[in-house]
Amino acid sequence: MKRKLIAGNWKMNGGLAANETLLRAIVAGLPAQAACDIAVAVPSPYLAQVQALTAGTSVAVGAQDVSTHEAGAYTGEVSAAMLRDFGVRYALVGHSERRQYHAESDAVVAAKAQRALAAGITPVVCVGETLAEREAGQTEQVVRRQLAAVIHVNGHCISEIVVAYEPVWAIGTGRTATPEQAQAVHAVLRAQLAAATEHAARMRILYGGSMNATNAADLLAQPDIDGGLIGGASLKAPDFLHIIAAAA
Ligand code: G3P
Repeated sequence: MKRKLIAGNWKMNGGLAANETLLRAIVAGLPAQAACDIAVAVPSPYLAQVQALTAGTSVAVGAQDVSTHEAGAYTGEVSAAMLRDFGVRYALVGHSERRQYHAESDAVVAAKAQRALAAGITPVVCVGETLAEREAGQTEQVVRRQLAAVIHVNGHCISEIVVAYEPVWAIGTGRTATPEQAQAVHAVLRAQLAAATEHAARMRILYGGSMNATNAADLLAQPDIDGGLIGGASLKAPDFLHIIAAAA
């Protein structure tokens, strides 16, 4: 039975005291045996703190980005090996905010996924269309293009990645995709993965974009939605715990 994955993306939020309060509340609220996989993708300065606070719990440490480079003169970047030093299990790659603010191309995203895999870190490859692209009927074309680049670079390793469908128009807006809208795109992504690997059925495709305590159950009930990538709601322990419970 494939376990769902609920991953929080803290983005550029937090602080030493706030992180401790949030993580202690999340860990305290988890059942003895979590029925899904759980991760929090945190800003790099807090990796050591989060590693210590989640040690021995069912919460895995995640990163929000990874360098395309192995090591060297790349000021400000963080390598996959450095992330591994802090027990990072997952790394977001290609989040729409990085594609938008840092001009990350499909090729860069594919290379980041490759770097993560090489270090034993599971890349969570983010794909998603803008509102203009959806309204122009280009949703399928966009997400297939974004995923195709990752499949092309990572070949047979593609079965080791996690995919996150995050419609850009749903991120941080409170305008969540309907379960039917999300399932339709997840089915397209599943079919694309199935053409690339025999393991597509066991791969996880997460939904992200204003998933919250109210709508999580209906989204997670969809056949091709294998979890969530949670922004705002992951910063509130009761809401994050509610979403985790809905993924059981
Ligand atoms: O990576 C998850 C994030 O983009 C979704 O944010 O606040 O809409 O849940 P939010």
